[in-house]
Amino acid sequence: MPNLYFYAGSANPELYELQNELIDPERKIEKVMEEFCDFEGSVIVDVGAGSGFHSHMYASTASMVYAVEPDSGMLKQLKARQARDFRSNFCVLKGFAEDLPLKSDLADIVHARLAYFFGPPMKYTESCEEGIEEVKRVLKTGGYFFNIQNNYSSGQYADFLELSYGRDLKNLQKEISDYFASRGFLERIVRTKWRAKNRGEIEKALTLEFPIEKVGQIMKAFSGNEFSHDFSIFFFKKRTRGENG
Ligand SMILES: C[S@@+](CC[C@H](N)C(=O)[O-])C[C@H]1O[C@@H](n2cnc3c(N)ncnc32)[C@H](O)[C@@H]1O
Repeated sequence: MPNLYFYAGSANPELYELQNELIDPERKIEKVMEEFCDFEGSVIVDVGAGSGFHSHMYASTASMVYAVEPDSGMLKQLKARQARDFRSNFCVLKGFAEDLPLKSDLADIVHARLAYFFGPPMKYTESCEEGIEEVKRVLKTGGYFFNIQNNYSSGQYADFLELSYGRDLKNLQKEISDYFASRGFLERIVRTKWRAKNRGEIEKALTLEFPIEKVGQIMKAFSGNEFSHDFSIFFFKKRTRGENG
């Protein structure tokens, strides 16, 4: 049974776009993924693509990008992005991670970002074992799966999450890292930042992630127009049976 995790960005396209623009302006996450494989000229599947902020960007150099998304508000945003800036190699597909509407051995890269359903069961999500099997099915041998998640134990954003949850989240990070390690994923931590023209932009974008009363506390916890946000990239390379490593 597919597990639909609803994200508030679905109903707030402007705030969601602003937030994506503020996070990782130096594109450090892409640079790390590109240490392992070329995005240019590749076939990329983005699972839980949201509004397509990242996958549409990848389509500027990839040979083909499939953006898979189940939520109607996000599908609307994906189509609106295509209408604003059409790319013939960008294909929007309605579908779930657990049942990808794609043929086997198709993709050089599968990308999932902040797709929290990929991971251990949490407050609003169930585990996504079927999703991981589906990723393995659509990947070509030698292809990579990059699953990008918040890191809950380092960086100022992790402090904000702790402030909001009201508890220490180091154990949660360990649980998530252990979950992926036990399924053959490697982990790379990437230290990025949010950077804005002014604090008002940050305050607005934070309301997508945190209750309004917590946003006030978070704004007092840092000065200036930027703060650090660490991500964990959990990834694996699809190998042939019997191949080591
Ligand atoms: C937090 S958003 C991140 C979106 C996008 N990857 C980004 O970085 O902006 C998570 C996305 O996963 C989608 N989603 C939720 N459940 C899903 C599932 N079972 N299969 C595929 N996508 C799902 C949501 O609709 C939402 O667009």
